[in-house]
Amino acid sequence: MNVVIVGAQWGDEGKGKVVDLYSSKAEYIVRYQGGNNAGHTLVVNGKKTVLHLIPSGILHPGKICLIANGVVFDPTVFFQEVDSLVASDALHGPAHEAIRVSDRAHVILPYHRMLDKCREEKTSQTKIGTTVRGIGPAYEDKVTRRGIRVGDLLRPEILKLKLTQAVEEKNCLFEHHFGTPKVELAPIYEECLKLGERLKPFVADVSQILIQALKHKRPVLFEGAQGTLLDIDHGTYPFVTSSNTVAGGALTGSGVGLGAATQAIGITKAYTTRVGVGPFPTEIEVTEKETAEKIRKIGAEFGATTGRARRVGWLDLVALKYAVEVNGLTGLALTKADVLRGFDFVKVCTAYSLGGTTIYEMPSRSEDLARIEPFYEVLPGWHEYDTNSVQGVEDLPVELQTYMKFIENFVGIPIILLSTGPGREETLQLQDPFSL
Ligand code: IMP
Repeated sequence: MNVVIVGAQWGDEGKGKVVDLYSSKAEYIVRYQGGNNAGHTLVVNGKKTVLHLIPSGILHPGKICLIANGVVFDPTVFFQEVDSLVASDALHGPAHEAIRVSDRAHVILPYHRMLDKCREEKTSQTKIGTTVRGIGPAYEDKVTRRGIRVGDLLRPEILKLKLTQAVEEKNCLFEHHFGTPKVELAPIYEECLKLGERLKPFVADVSQILIQALKHKRPVLFEGAQGTLLDIDHGTYPFVTSSNTVAGGALTGSGVGLGAATQAIGITKAYTTRVGVGPFPTEIEVTEKETAEKIRKIGAEFGATTGRARRVGWLDLVALKYAVEVNGLTGLALTKADVLRGFDFVKVCTAYSLGGTTIYEMPSRSEDLARIEPFYEVLPGWHEYDTNSVQGVEDLPVELQTYMKFIENFVGIPIILLSTGPGREETLQLQDPFSL
């Protein structure tokens, strides 16, 4: 009845479109981790909207979009997004009636963005290739119990006290460790007060809203951001984001109990991409440069948040099977198979070689993953077809049907949705997770 959507790879799998589709069946749509490092691109009636923070369900009338406690919340970005939705006439009523923000969510402040930049540019430590949105430093403050929460923005006295302590500590780092200019408390405090005032009608106890919704059996969609292999615990650490991107994160990240979600749907592309630094066993940027460039061009594989070119590789079934296991996935949504139209062949990785030994599981260490040689199965490619004329699986080229079967057999769960193009209508919904 309730569904969690997660990325089954390194993010950018096309979650925005799938969440947008499933939102029509849900009443509540919840962002539960990450922040505006995400970029969900939606194409509705040929119009493109990119959302970084507000749940993708916002484009549907009558939905409640929740930003839950597990999110790190940049209020400036939030209002930019609200204003742009209003300006493009995309909302179906007042924004504060459709969006609620948890008072427990941690706030991203200017010094978090600066710290993210310093860590990327000025340390001798490993560069992660972050989105430089301040995500990691905001989560750091949360865990070290120095964070400012959304609820604090509404309480000037407490805010001042907490900000004073935070700024003092951050300035010590900026001045003595990174050798960069310090930040000033007063303008940050003033801005926080203004943002807090504007935020008031949006702030709520999101966990309680959800608990009531679940009690009354209202359909809820939990919208994951990033992807399984970027999970802070289960991803390719340290080349990961700072939150739990796996399905389990939906529970802690929104304050609901076990059993709140019955279906976990993983989104995977028909190939793989990754942005930022870190191991990527099936990457073909060097070995099959022309193919990588072709896929990047046809698939428009450039970051929705940072514009960075995404690294491209073949589908990694070892990694996908791992995603099925760590998320407890019950179904897959396969996206961008249309990008591979007209290819003579496609490859899928079915095992790894590590130091001469064949392995079938994801190693936990990034150093090992970086040394891996993929074993590929080569499957026949599929010819051009008109994505708009596809009404059922039987209308797909037989080679694509074979590809889908191969994936299903390998990972042991069904493909319940096939996205055949970017538009809402270019989709084959094979099973409805809300009725399972
Ligand atoms: P951060 O989340 O900005 O700290 O970045 C950490 C890592 O996660 C970097 O490799 C980013 O490129 C990656 N990342 C963060 N958000 C996304 C996303 O929405 N899609 C793909 N990669 C992401």
